[in-house]
Amino acid sequence: MAILLLLLSIATVSVSVPVPLTSTKSDTFKPPDNYLLDCGSSSQTTLPDRRTFASDSTSSQYLQYDGRELNVNDQSANVPLPIYKTAKVFNAKATYSFHVTKTGWHWVRLHFYPVQNKEFKLHDTKFTVVACDTVVLLHEYTPKGIEMQEYLMNVTTENLNIRFSGEKDLPAFINAIEVVSAPDMVIADHTDALFPVGKKIDGMTRFSFQKMYRLNVGGAVIGPGNDTLGRYWDNDHKFLKTQSAAKNVSIAPNVVTYLEGRSPLIAPPTVYASAVEMGNSDTIAPNFNITWEFDLDHSYPYLIRLHFCDIVSKSLNELYFNVYVGGKIAISALDLSTVTNGLSVAYYKDVFVEASLVSSPFLVQVGPLNEPTGTKNAILNGLEILRINNSVNSLDGAFGADGKSAIGPSRGTVAAVGFAMMFGAFAGLSAMAVKWQKRPQDWQKKNSFSSWLLPLHSGDSSFMGSSKTSLGSKKSAFYSSTMGLGRYLSFAELQEATKNWDPNSVIGVGGFGNVYLGVLEDGTKVAVKRGNPQSEQGINEFQTELQMLSKLRHRHLVSLIGYCDENAEMILVYEYMEHGPMRDHLYGKNLPLISWKQRLEICIGAARGLHYLHTGAATAIIHRDVKSTNILLDENFIAKMADFGLSKDVGMGEAHVSTAVKGSFGYLDPEYFRKQQLTDKSDVYSFGVVLLEVLCARPAIDPALPREQVNLAEWAMQWKRKGLLNKIIDPNLVGRINPESMDKFAEAAEKCLSEYGVDRPTMGDVLWNLEYALQLQDQGKTDDGGNGSGSALANSAPLAPVADSRPVTTPAQVNQNPPAEVEVIEEHSGTHMFAHPANLNSR
Ligand SMILES: *[C@@H]1O[C@H](CO)[C@@H](O)[C@H](O)[C@H]1NC(C)=O
Ligand SMILES: *[C@@H]1O[C@H](CO)[C@@H](O)[C@H](O)[C@H]1NC(C)=O
Ligand SMILES: *[C@@H]1O[C@H](CO)[C@@H](O)[C@H](O)[C@H]1NC(C)=O
Repeated sequence: MAILLLLLSIATVSVSVPVPLTSTKSDTFKPPDNYLLDCGSSSQTTLPDRRTFASDSTSSQYLQYDGRELNVNDQSANVPLPIYKTAKVFNAKATYSFHVTKTGWHWVRLHFYPVQNKEFKLHDTKFTVVACDTVVLLHEYTPKGIEMQEYLMNVTTENLNIRFSGEKDLPAFINAIEVVSAPDMVIADHTDALFPVGKKIDGMTRFSFQKMYRLNVGGAVIGPGNDTLGRYWDNDHKFLKTQSAAKNVSIAPNVVTYLEGRSPLIAPPTVYASAVEMGNSDTIAPNFNITWEFDLDHSYPYLIRLHFCDIVSKSLNELYFNVYVGGKIAISALDLSTVTNGLSVAYYKDVFVEASLVSSPFLVQVGPLNEPTGTKNAILNGLEILRINNSVNSLDGAFGADGKSAIGPSRGTVAAVGFAMMFGAFAGLSAMAVKWQKRPQDWQKKNSFSSWLLPLHSGDSSFMGSSKTSLGSKKSAFYSSTMGLGRYLSFAELQEATKNWDPNSVIGVGGFGNVYLGVLEDGTKVAVKRGNPQSEQGINEFQTELQMLSKLRHRHLVSLIGYCDENAEMILVYEYMEHGPMRDHLYGKNLPLISWKQRLEICIGAARGLHYLHTGAATAIIHRDVKSTNILLDENFIAKMADFGLSKDVGMGEAHVSTAVKGSFGYLDPEYFRKQQLTDKSDVYSFGVVLLEVLCARPAIDPALPREQVNLAEWAMQWKRKGLLNKIIDPNLVGRINPESMDKFAEAAEKCLSEYGVDRPTMGDVLWNLEYALQLQDQGKTDDGGNGSGSALANSAPLAPVADSRPVTTPAQVNQNPPAEVEVIEEHSGTHMFAHPANLNSR
């Protein structure tokens, strides 16, 4: 009995850890669909790997083709496989249509070789291949030698169509086609993005993939006949940057085991049985990476699959190492013993990479942890790099299946915007901020700002002999995948719109450069923000803003109309906000003052915008610079939040981001100061200060006032606690504000200003309170018996102009420099960005 109990408890323990299995029943996969065609061949062909390709006459049942029957063959061709000796040539559009027995993943493998023949110059033709009617596989393609293009497509329709069409009068051709079902598990639906760290990419099944590289690292080439899914695995040797850094290691494949639920279908044991480890890992300076370099077109996203299996350790928990992709950490301190609970156990990890955000050439690296103790070693067993279709559903260039480019320099072409935006939103536009902050210093040498958004590399010859990407197509592909940028405006057009950058059109000045009032050809007024290339700070904020705005659309957020990047210019074009910053309507600007009701409506609009930022997008966005000059008013006094130059994305499921403190003094959340942790409640605090500004019509910081009055939040809260807040409100409101409305409003402000973020309301709560305050004003009576209907307080006596609240990075700066006398360097670009021309006069 005691023994039985003991056994039971052992059994219980062992189920809680990963159990390696020698084999599973999912070792083999019988594809429901398995079409193998040897096009142009008079008989069927059996390859050395024992797969049989059907003859041309058998294949013709799948073909819809009205052109001339043209088969070419060259039996004397020196080719490794007989399928390359024959080809089928099309002088008109041709479509193969395969019935799909079971929907889901399918391999599509296209074999090309320009067979010698008298009639056609096949090495000199140009054609396009489209699959499933919408996915561009190859665009203006010219196979020069033997080329096998492999795709993985999720087919959801009854038939899988593959369409060949020659350019102009040129012929298209094909030597052999494989359409073979793949198991569901071949691509997981969720994948981790390389960055932002922790970001998940969902819905991988809606993509199509093209194999770029598939390597059996440290081992021999594996042919289709020896792979569980008929794949070809190359050796990694030629991709190693420093050959001596790497050493081959291997074990017998039958020693490799798989975790339960994992399968050799992902990669056969032969892939895991060999690896590369650090050469000379026992030398005095063992701290280096093993680096593989790849030639990739950086305008596409990629799925990187890394295969690992600890075949080097003598015992568990000996080996820890870092894995880098594109120069960024992909797996930190990978401990295979812990993830697999054993040695020689297969393990893989997928990483989604937006390649435009990493430098070129594309690197995959493994290296030891920089720690004094532990074995200094790192390994890699296998590597796959799969291209993911771009926003026009293409795996080859910027043109969609309809032959149209998503965009191009021609303005107004907005096809595929929806898809592009959707794509951009999840494919890591947010990640761009990360990249942009690390923008290469030499960007000024480049011709356009997209060139540092999209690192272009010279020497773009492909290892695979498929160097068919031009700089032009990359550029447009990039644009199309970030279509949220709005429409393209030419420099000449903007020059005209701003009367050749007329100084009198300047409506705002900041660290980034100037903001001009412009009028487009169609009469639309716009705010044109022209980047000053000298300003580092400005550029960073400029980029953040572009990135933020391109994924946000909301009635209460200022929207982006377009951009221009000609001649190293960095120009963003926004909707023009006729009435400028809210602050100008409260004090200091001699403008007609606005009623309490209007003020409430403006606050409600701004709160809506912020609420949307915090909750409306996939990841929460913190504005980080909420203040009365960043709330702009359009011609109808509708409030919109502006200036996203300091905004931050919060990763999914995270509560805060740790970051250097930035913002504007007087509005800054004290908790954010203390902890250096930014949360959406930091915006709520700043908004509380804005509410007091609205009520008291004075700046957040007014150094000209007696000491205890300088800081509006502190001063007003003192009066609020005494129940005497009405003593310090805007004199213009006295008698025109319903006391209950004011109380509700002040209560909301007070809660926003709570010491601790957790005690502050959400923007949603604030919004509710403000709406309630508006209701009270509407139905209530003002304290002098007025009807409170909110007539504008036009022609009120102007208030004395007061000093600006200056943005700062640290409170120390303020303490050292009495702001009234010292010119604080404008560290941040936000102030008066969209102010109307009246603002200029006071500058
Ligand atoms: C590692 O193995 C591959 C394939 O067998 C071979 O091409 C390569 O030269 C080997 N590398 C070293 C450093 O021996
Ligand atoms: C499979 O591997 C064996 C042993 O490595 C080799 O002899 C054979 O040629 C391979 N077959 C194919 C089809 O690659
Ligand atoms: C390894 O590569 C990563 C990413 O490129 C880099 O940050 C790290 O410093 C490298 N480590 C060593 C020891 O060179």
